[in-house]
Amino acid sequence: MKRGIGFAAITLLALTVSAAAEPSAGERYFKEYCWGCHHQTAEAFGPSFRSIADKRTPAQIMAQIADPEHTYKSLGYARNSMPAFADLNASQLKALTDYILSFKDKK
Ligand code: HEC
Repeated sequence: MKRGIGFAAITLLALTVSAAAEPSAGERYFKEYCWGCHHQTAEAFGPSFRSIADKRTPAQIMAQIADPEHTYKSLGYARNSMPAFADLNASQLKALTDYILSFKDKK
């Protein structure tokens, strides 16, 4: 009997932990739209989110996502290789930007 209760408690704990580990909206958008070219802490086709977070402001990041054709020069790139995500709404842009900035100083 005692054992049964212990097992139920552990199951409940496991469920609670997995609920807490749900990905944030920013992480979900990242996986949907960006992961083919950007990784969180490693360089891929595009720079890592950590390196972006270390050098850019939220405004620069949002502008680049929505309209890279108009920002790449000011960010120091010779040409633009990133598609514009002009259809993302303000809350999606903010969620992505917060997600990128969460990698600041991450090893
Ligand atoms: C087709 C590949 C591709 C996709 C998809 C892509 N990017 Fe990029 N991104 C790049 C490349 C390459 C660069 C470097 C600039 C350049 O060469 O155009 C870049 C640059 C950036 C920068 C500026 C980097 C800096 O120096 O500050 C940000 C911010 C960024 N991407 C965010 C995103 C986000 C967020 C998404 C998803 C919504 C995304 N990118 C999707 C390829 C991509």
